[in-house]
Amino acid sequence: MKPWWAYDVGRGRRLRQRLERTLRPSGLGTLRRTRPLSDRWGLDRGTPVDRWYVERFLGEERASIRGRVLEVRDTRYTRAFGTDVASSDVIDIDESNPDATIVADLSKPSSIPTGTFDCFLLVQTLQFIFDTRGVLEEAHRVLAPGGVLLCTVPAVSRISMRYLDAEYWRFTVAGCRELVTIAFPGADVDVRSHGNVLACAAFLYGLAVEDLTEQELLDEDPFFPLVIAVKARKRPTAAPADSHVFRSHEVIALPASLSGASTVPMMRTRP
Ligand SMILES: C[S@@+](CC[C@H](N)C(=O)[O-])C[C@H]1O[C@@H](n2cnc3c(N)ncnc32)[C@H](O)[C@@H]1O
Repeated sequence: MKPWWAYDVGRGRRLRQRLERTLRPSGLGTLRRTRPLSDRWGLDRGTPVDRWYVERFLGEERASIRGRVLEVRDTRYTRAFGTDVASSDVIDIDESNPDATIVADLSKPSSIPTGTFDCFLLVQTLQFIFDTRGVLEEAHRVLAPGGVLLCTVPAVSRISMRYLDAEYWRFTVAGCRELVTIAFPGADVDVRSHGNVLACAAFLYGLAVEDLTEQELLDEDPFFPLVIAVKARKRPTAAPADSHVFRSHEVIALPASLSGASTVPMMRTRP
């Protein structure tokens, strides 16, 4: 079979294509370049475009960011959007992270007791972990009955300068729905697409929110998601999946408040 480009599209089609280019010129201007304007997602120009969608989603879900809250890497969004937060923990695989109160690999069941948290903020992290299903199953396990996972993932993004060999995934709405529904049996799962072709292109080029208008950001086109946001509420009564069979047991460090047992190898407490 010939590849698609080997087919002769015919003179009529070629003329129509030329007309289309003439009537709607690309006008690429400053975007006619093969390297982005920023290597830091637009941070050096203003607010990264993906964060506008992430923060709007978390703002809409403030009421769920309550009780015992777990976040990855730092407490940035717990502090910004939390309401009635009883305790705030930070999980990271990176032992050198001074903000981490729990050092563990999220893709493996850990010794964090089942049902510990009321809210888990899993923001722009899943793309860095190969076993996405494992992470979501662990998220489900550590949430209390009725607890909420608020997760955002990139549909489109440059590869992080730090993670060329360790950034694994981009996502679609359909893929997220499937993954989360499997990990959260019987749960309410809400998956939302945010962005449009301009937002995607701007983000890839390293433009910032301040380069766009609010109207441009608000125009949602499901065929061009930039960020996908997921809300999943664990069933209020413990599902059978709660009797989780551990595939391994690899907590590296756990705060005293979460570890009943004396078998935890390292503990970290906030100053
Ligand atoms: C880019 S940050 C994203 C989180 C941050 N809250 C944000 O909004 O950008 C990714 C974090 O996930 C951590 N991480 C990567 N793989 C992990 C894993 N398997 N388990 C736990 N944390 C992991 C990294 O060390 C890093 O701190």
